Amino acid sequence: MSAFVKACELSELEEDTPKRVELDGTPVSLVKTEGEVFAIYDICSHANVSLSEGEVEDCQIECWLHGSAFDLRTGKPSGLPATRPVPVYPVKIEGGSVLVDVNASLTQES
Ligand code: FES
Repeated sequence: MSAFVKACELSELEEDTPKRVELDGTPVSLVKTEGEVFAIYDICSHANVSLSEGEVEDCQIECWLHGSAFDLRTGKPSGLPATRPVPVYPVKIEGGSVLVDVNASLTQES
């Protein structure tokens, strides 16, 4: 069952600038980039670091502490030290609002 909840207004998101929100108690980083909006779990899979404090480039968000970058579409890290993916969530845009379903991770454990 899908459970999309409103995360913010689309107009609140700036290109390539992550926005941290909390949805159903889950910290989520929202990222508008390359004409799309992505939602990724806001904690690095390597240590307890907020990904929304990192930089966005090439549809990836970089963890500022050790530099692993996570693909915003798949949640997979591009390189060490992180080896595990971070959950990414489905996003819908409806009437200018950004909706996210944090109960449906799109990430596949590899
Ligand atoms: S804490 Fe994120 S890569 Fe180490």
